[in-house]
Amino acid sequence: MSSTHKTLLVVGSGPGIGRAVTALFVAKRYNNVVLLARRPDSLVSEKAAIEQAIGTQVNIKSYAVDITDLAALEGALDDADAALGKPECIFFNAARVLPSAFFEHPIMEIEYDLRITVSALYAVAQRYVPHLVSLAANPAAKPALLVTSSALPLQPIPQLFALSLAKAAQRNLVQSLNMTYGPEGVHIGVINVAGIVSPDDSERNPANIAAKTWEWFEEGKEFELVI
Ligand SMILES: NC(=O)c1ccc[n+]([C@@H]2O[C@H](COP(=O)([O-])OP(=O)(O)OC[C@H]3O[C@@H](n4cnc5c(N)ncnc54)[C@H](OP(=O)(O)O)[C@@H]3O)[C@@H](O)[C@H]2O)c1
Repeated sequence: MSSTHKTLLVVGSGPGIGRAVTALFVAKRYNNVVLLARRPDSLVSEKAAIEQAIGTQVNIKSYAVDITDLAALEGALDDADAALGKPECIFFNAARVLPSAFFEHPIMEIEYDLRITVSALYAVAQRYVPHLVSLAANPAAKPALLVTSSALPLQPIPQLFALSLAKAAQRNLVQSLNMTYGPEGVHIGVINVAGIVSPDDSERNPANIAAKTWEWFEEGKEFELVI
């Protein structure tokens, strides 16, 4: 493994925010990228889209895993670490938007959302934050754990109460991680996308979100980016 390798780990690769942020971050800094999502066909599209945006000089490994299956998640990350090295930056972007009406919404669906947003994030942090702290000793490194969030933690939508509470719990976890490991030189924070993303929205379109995310990441100081 080259000492100059820089790996970006994308947990929750998809055609919206995930693709735009991944393509921009790879263009700016990373020569290795690891993509995780459940659907193999979608991962093929995401890999092709990044190669089209960047060229083929980037090493991309993709893994079709449901991150709520923690054994499968760890297995994919074991393979990715061996192939491309541990990540310098983790972009945790996975979530699902599913209406949740009182009181038809099954408890197991609430638990599934929490396993995506909280349990899988905790597993990823547990695995990599010590490594990110060790990278912080090198002034050239930019160790980071960046999490896509929304306005829901502070302004829940009752029709999306399950996603709202999962995002609230996730934000709380990221705050605790930041309070603990931010002072050790790891940029840990949330990208608060405070509305619906659309290519037609002048502010909340994937390209602008990616550009704002890169600027915020380059600064490397603030916990929260609001878009
Ligand atoms: N879109 C919006 O309007 C909006 C607004 C505010 C905030 N956000 C936040 O922004 C983030 C990205 O949203 P996006 O809509 O733009 O999506 P995206 O970046 O296009 O894709 C995210 C990907 O996460 C993957 N994912 C979901 N559950 C997963 C699981 N259990 N295991 C592995 N991968 C999983 C999905 O792929 P598979 O289906 O293949 O697994 C999905 O394509 C989310 O955190 C979302 O809450 C979105």
